[in-house]
Amino acid sequence: MSIRSLRLAAGRVGALRLGAPFVAPLAVLALGAFGLPAFGSPAPDSLQAAVQAGAHAFANDSFGGHSTCIACHSNGGFGPGKTPSGMALPSLQGAAARFPQWRGGKLVTLQMQVTRCIRGALGGTPPAPDSARMAELLAYLTALSRGVPMGQQLPELKAPASH
Ligand code: HEC
Repeated sequence: MSIRSLRLAAGRVGALRLGAPFVAPLAVLALGAFGLPAFGSPAPDSLQAAVQAGAHAFANDSFGGHSTCIACHSNGGFGPGKTPSGMALPSLQGAAARFPQWRGGKLVTLQMQVTRCIRGALGGTPPAPDSARMAELLAYLTALSRGVPMGQQLPELKAPASH
């Protein structure tokens, strides 16, 4: 096969792809709508990169609201926090290991807490529960609990009886 016919074949494949130049921007828009990083911040390619993306969102993303996580959870969540009205908040180090919690007659998971902070405290729109952005935030919060004993608040369990 000559180079020329290779080029022709490649051209035909390109034409079959139905206008890739139009599809690509649409894909970027769609990714943006699902909370994935837009231009300039490449999608994470490892667990560490995903945790870093979560840390970045924690410090910089307002989720369409009026501030960021670090406005209340200072020093990337490492430090003790404080709400604008002066209420003291514990460090988020170890917080992930203390979920789920039973609060006000309701079971609250770490993800529900994040949703609550984004909607209530930030006045923003939480990322979809199964979005990359939500997963990255949860990965970051979980990394803040590295080495902390998990689930001390939970009851002792016996293996469920099998039938
Ligand atoms: C305006 C202040 C404020 C902002 C901004 C805020 N939070 Fe919170 N956060 C709170 C308060 C207050 C609590 C205590 C529990 C409650 O009232 O929901 C809390 C609790 C938490 C907890 C549970 C801590 C524990 O030990 O139980 C996590 C995790 C958390 N926030 C994550 C986040 C994340 C992630 C963001 C950013 C997306 C964020 N918060 C933004 C005020 C805030």
